[in-house]
Order: sequence, then structure tokens, then C-alpha cells
Amino acid sequence: MINLERSKNMDNNGPIGVIDSGIGGFTVLKALQDRLPNENYLYFGDSMRMPYGERENDELIMLANTIISDLESRGVKAIVLACNTLSSLIVELTAQVPLFSVIEAGVQETLNWRDRGLVGLIATTATVKNRGYEKELELWTKDVEYIAQGTHTLAKVINDGQSDLKILKHNIEEAVEPILLKGIKKGIVIEELLLGCTHFPIVSVTIRQMYPELELINPANGLVNQLNKYCTEFDFFNTQEPAGTTHILMTADYDIFERMVRELELNCDSLEMTELRLS
Ligand code: DGL
Repeated sequence: MINLERSKNMDNNGPIGVIDSGIGGFTVLKALQDRLPNENYLYFGDSMRMPYGERENDELIMLANTIISDLESRGVKAIVLACNTLSSLIVELTAQVPLFSVIEAGVQETLNWRDRGLVGLIATTATVKNRGYEKELELWTKDVEYIAQGTHTLAKVINDGQSDLKILKHNIEEAVEPILLKGIKKGIVIEELLLGCTHFPIVSVTIRQMYPELELINPANGLVNQLNKYCTEFDFFNTQEPAGTTHILMTADYDIFERMVRELELNCDSLEMTELRLS
């Protein structure tokens, strides 16, 4: 998390910004809507430029900083970086409002499961290359290690709503099998798998069917816990009407967003959706 301290001019009543490269961040948005129903949310899904996991760091930093300042100009009071790929670069980002990292939350969730040994981690290629999870974990303990595997394609397959189960399962296998093998080579059976990309919890039913022996760790709950703790500590909850509204901005794929809002059962009581036209 950056900008931890509360400053005097922070407004309790702006929406909470949520950033992802596509519909993956809905897994975080849903947890936020469920647990903090009196807040307002402004979601930014950058589908036009996904997959982020295949982009270079300088491009990702530029995209993230542009989206952060766009959301700030729309009055957000805090920003949740739901995207793991962007969170792996959080130290390079600039924000005027408190900025929460899904990776920090994912590490805390990991430590709730295990205080020593190995944990599997699937994420985008960029998150793995940047060692986002490893760097955060090293701040807390040397006794737990991730066996990480990056995937080039799984997030995009999920974002596009790939209905061919065979293709989905093949992509999941390509990501998970190397982790289990590396564990076996070390003489250890991996018991937990951290879903280090917001898109992956969307297919957790399939992952569970394929690997019933694995405990799946989803950082979303930890992220809501962090936000809740921060709002409690700094008296930062929304105090005004309207409350419980959600506005979803996307840079492409309006239809996919609309379908996923229904499939993931997001709260639609007061929901607005806008496709932005980028020049
Ligand atoms: N959903 C994003 C993440 O959590 C990235 C997926 C992508 O655009 O590659 O890392």
C-alpha cells in the first residue's frame, strides 16, 4: 500500500477506484460490493490493451499512471490495484490517493495458510518476471517460498469468455503442472495454489475439479480486509448518499463486461456502464 497516512484534504465520499486490465477485477469488485456495500465504486477495465502480462514494464507503468490520474480526476478517494501485473510494479507508480496492492493482500492470505514451506503461484508472465509476489513475501518471512509459473494465455482465454472447456483446461494444465513437478523434484507435495491474476478465480470451479487436492488462495478477500482496516483506522468510510453505486468504465468489449456482470452476480442495484472511446 502507498500513501498510507491520511491527509487533511482527503474526501470520504468519493468512489473507490478499482483497476484491472479487463473483467478479471470483477472478482475483487464483487468482494468489495459484498463486504463494503455502502461505498461507491468506479471500475476501470482496460480490455483494449490486455493482456497486460505480455507488455513491457515501462509501458505498464505509463498505462497505470495514466489510468490512476484519470480516476483521480473523476474524484476517487482511494484506488485498488486489482491487477496483479500492475501491482508487481507498485513502487514505480504515482498516486495522490491511497493505493492498495492485490499482491500485498495475496501475500497476507498466503501467510494465513502456511508459515513455512512451498506454495504454488500462477500469474501472468510479467508478474512472475517482476518477482512481485516474491519481493513482497521476503518482507515478511524467509520460511515460505513460492514456486511460480507464468502463463502467456490463460488470462486472455478467460477474458474472452472462451467457452471451449478443452482449451481452458489445456491452459490451466500448462500453468499448474510445472509447479507440481517442481515440487516433486524438491520432494514436496504442493498443497496450496495462489491465484495470482484476477482472472483466475473466475474459473476456480474448473481448477478445483482438475486439482481437488489443491487449496486455492484468492487475494480478493485479503484486499477487502486491508481496505476495511484502513477505512476504520482513518475514519474513511463513505458517509453520504448515494451509496452502493457502481460505475464500470471499459476501453473495449462492452458486451463481455455486460455478460460477466450477470455471470458473476455483481450487485446491479445501481450500476452504470460506459465504454470509453480512446483516441
Ligand atoms: N488480470 C491481470 C492480473 O491480475 C492481468 C491479466 C492480463 O491482462 O494479462 O495480473
